[in-house]
Amino acid sequence: MEQASLQFIGILHGDIKSRADAPKNYSESDRTGILEIYPQFRDGLDGIKPGQTIVVLFWLHQSSRDILKVYPRGDKSRGLHGVFATRSPVRPNPIAISELKVEAIHGNKLEVSGLDILDSTPILDIKKKISSR
Ligand SMILES: C[S@@+](CC[C@H](N)C(=O)[O-])C[C@H]1O[C@@H](n2cnc3c(N)ncnc32)[C@H](O)[C@@H]1O
Repeated sequence: MEQASLQFIGILHGDIKSRADAPKNYSESDRTGILEIYPQFRDGLDGIKPGQTIVVLFWLHQSSRDILKVYPRGDKSRGLHGVFATRSPVRPNPIAISELKVEAIHGNKLEVSGLDILDSTPILDIKKKISSR
């Protein structure tokens, strides 16, 4: 099977310490935290401004990777769905995508709001949010 190698660009510092305490998604969260970007990637932040919404990809390091069917939001009344039809954190490659508001920037640290992600989760990438058509 083909494989890829990734490098984490940083780490999240936040106050969400357990899945039970985590909002189900960023669209229903006002939780704040800090994206610490490692110094070797600092230049990649140039152009990001406070007030902007960014798209952040996380590696959900505590997720199961061997589950392909889930009950969305744990709701059995909805029946089993394939993970690729959901935003479940469990999936073969546990990548999360969250749209976060940049509240402030301090060097290589971005203060953000809208978190649905656990403290100490590795960061894979940051992208500009595409403007809607
Ligand atoms: C449903 S996922 C959605 C993530 C992302 N916003 C997305 O749509 O791809 C959010 C849930 O992932 C779980 N989670 C967050 N950080 C995690 C981590 N590092 N490892 C495993 N599960 C995590 C929490 O239970 C949280 O409620």
